[in-house]
Amino acid sequence: MRLAAIAEALLTPHGIDRYLELVDPMLVRREIRGEVTAVEHQTPGTVTLTLKPSSAWRGFRAGQYVRVSVDIDGVRRTRCYSPAGSQHRDGRLELTIKAQGLVSQHLNRARPGWVLGLSQADGAFTLPEPRPEKLLLISGGSGITPLMSMLRTLADEGHRGEVVFLHYANTPDDVLYAHELARQAPNVRVVLACTHAAGGELSGFFSREHLAEAAPWYAGALTYLCGPAQLMDSVRAGYDSEQLSEQLITEEFASSELVIDESAAEGTVRFAHSGVEFPNSGRPLLEQAEEAGLRPEHGCRMGICFSCTKVKARGRVRNTKSGEVSGEENEEIQLCISVPAGDVEIDA
Ligand code: FES
Repeated sequence: MRLAAIAEALLTPHGIDRYLELVDPMLVRREIRGEVTAVEHQTPGTVTLTLKPSSAWRGFRAGQYVRVSVDIDGVRRTRCYSPAGSQHRDGRLELTIKAQGLVSQHLNRARPGWVLGLSQADGAFTLPEPRPEKLLLISGGSGITPLMSMLRTLADEGHRGEVVFLHYANTPDDVLYAHELARQAPNVRVVLACTHAAGGELSGFFSREHLAEAAPWYAGALTYLCGPAQLMDSVRAGYDSEQLSEQLITEEFASSELVIDESAAEGTVRFAHSGVEFPNSGRPLLEQAEEAGLRPEHGCRMGICFSCTKVKARGRVRNTKSGEVSGEENEEIQLCISVPAGDVEIDA
């Protein structure tokens, strides 16, 4: 340990991780990496990856998410995925990913041996302690992953309460984890709803009738929901109309407060494609761009949805959530939580 500390000091400013990863990316100590150890295609258009995280990984709670980073054509890109495994088997990380969007399509081509960047797990979409006596889990498509993690975690804990799992898929062939869902313990009832074909216990899109059929006691239980926007909206609307919204828990990502210090702001910000240039005010780049009359795409404005992601061609930025400063060229950054540290050029 002491030797490592001396080596770290000698290797400053790059830090030992920069050198270790040249030898073996899985040896890094501060950053987290995950090596793909197995690849399975359960349904057309999805991939299930099993990862072996490096030593800095601290595990997760069922329902949380991790950020996965990959380099595509020299640009670092990051997306969030919810592990599907039980939280009690944290030696491995299982991600099931639908081939939709650049990063997910890239990961659908993953092979054993690939090494991905990982974050620690985050998010408040988790089961309470003690575990509830009655639980309703509703998911759609690949939104099944955090709920699969909950089911597997409860099974590992020997949970004996009543669980109903209502899952929506286009057709029976699109049901992820179909074999495992068919073999649940007697206290778990799986109800499949197919939206575009016969074959499920229920058919069509979410409705109050589906709720009453799957879990007639839903009004007195906690409900966890994760799936496509259309499903999320209609379940929310149903619960709102019955004044049950407090019993409905959706995958909301908790955001930590941004730390912004405008006093030491210096340098110039340049948006290369639009040719707009302005002095750095010390505010997040999204705000500065908007003040300069630009309209970059964005969503949550708190570092969660990644819709404001752009490539930083050069310069250093500070991530206001983590406090980390990074200066890599052609690096993907989130404009809403990145503050320039000196001159910065954005490819936008
Ligand atoms: S991450 Fe959502 S807007 Fe920036």
